[in-house]
Amino acid sequence: MEIKQSDALKRLPEQFFSKWNGRIKQLEASGYDVINLGQGSPDLPTDERITDALRHAALDPVNHQYPPYRGFAYFKKGIVHFYRRKFNIELNDETEVAILFGSRIGIFHVVKALLNPGDYALLPDPGYPDYLSSIRLADARFDVMPLAQENRFLPDYDNIPIEQAKRAKLMFINYPNNPTGAVASLPFFEKTVDFAKRNDIFVVHDFAYEAICYDGKKHPSFLEAEGAKEIGIELYSMSKTFNMAGWRVGFAVGNEAVIEMINKLQDHLFISLFGGIQYAATEALLGSQPFVDRLVKTYEQRRNTFINHLQKIGWNVDPPQGTFFAWLKVPDGYSSEQFTNMLLEKAHVAVASGDWFGEHGEGYIRVGLLAPEERLVEAVHRIAKLNLFNK
Ligand SMILES: Cc1ncc(COP(=O)(O)O)c(C=O)c1O
Repeated sequence: MEIKQSDALKRLPEQFFSKWNGRIKQLEASGYDVINLGQGSPDLPTDERITDALRHAALDPVNHQYPPYRGFAYFKKGIVHFYRRKFNIELNDETEVAILFGSRIGIFHVVKALLNPGDYALLPDPGYPDYLSSIRLADARFDVMPLAQENRFLPDYDNIPIEQAKRAKLMFINYPNNPTGAVASLPFFEKTVDFAKRNDIFVVHDFAYEAICYDGKKHPSFLEAEGAKEIGIELYSMSKTFNMAGWRVGFAVGNEAVIEMINKLQDHLFISLFGGIQYAATEALLGSQPFVDRLVKTYEQRRNTFINHLQKIGWNVDPPQGTFFAWLKVPDGYSSEQFTNMLLEKAHVAVASGDWFGEHGEGYIRVGLLAPEERLVEAVHRIAKLNLFNK
């Protein structure tokens, strides 16, 4: 029998990262020391207070049974408390919160919930690749909102063609931004609400890097913008701010109707997260969070060291303002892919090629600051030896 994959699977775009990891593994197997700054997985452990809470919860027989379909009430109340304390936003724990197995699945849920085949979405370009994957799975269509350096990597709503604005049912934005490291302000979110309301577009703000913001700045939530809840939701990830990427825990907050749709979909797909994870995640959200400040300081220190060293070798780059990514313009004469391949082959430094994030990512590479400072400095030394820059 010939086993054929469905059209939905055939539509999925190429996963650059899995192919790239294969090449890195090959080099490592041949004995090379590769400095892998290509991916976005936090390198430091979860704080002990959170792992202790998990250990405690693992022994509680309540958590050996199926959890409630839509998650434990205490976790949802913890999320409400967190949003009130951090952003001064009021949420209803029963109707405005949906618990997720990591925020990534929330992207797929919201697209499935709102788009029929042939419907249009607006996607940031460059942008997190799973927005596109979710659109392709749903057999939907998209237009891109270019994120240009001249516009601080924010979409320029005044220049989105009217026909694109009118046909879009959904749009994604993401700040602090992967891959560019850019941040957004409350006035930008207010502009987004205005644009979305004028054009009947539902907004998904992906807040995966919430606390990872530099130079003493605190990033606003999209829901702080007046009217945001009427037309949008925010996807929150515990992976980065709390170093809990492996735990797979996140949530969606905001518009009641869409939260209900996500919950309805999940009622059919899953029974909620392991109770121990919900318990430990609540501990992370409710307690004091000195470890978050420490983590941000660590990334900031890495950012400063890395960017200073790059500038010293003559690579004139801007420091990111948020996330743990540096978005660097490649030297003249190279495409992103050529430069990425050269760094891997000649310097054994793995980065992500800008075009993997969309056509407007061409001309850049993304470097994850996810290794100790000495490895980042070593990466710069190796790049310096390629003699590409004028000191
Ligand atoms: C922009 C962005 N959104 C969402 C996610 C997914 O995060 P999670 O671990 O919560 O699924 C990531 C992870 O890298 C990301 O960079």
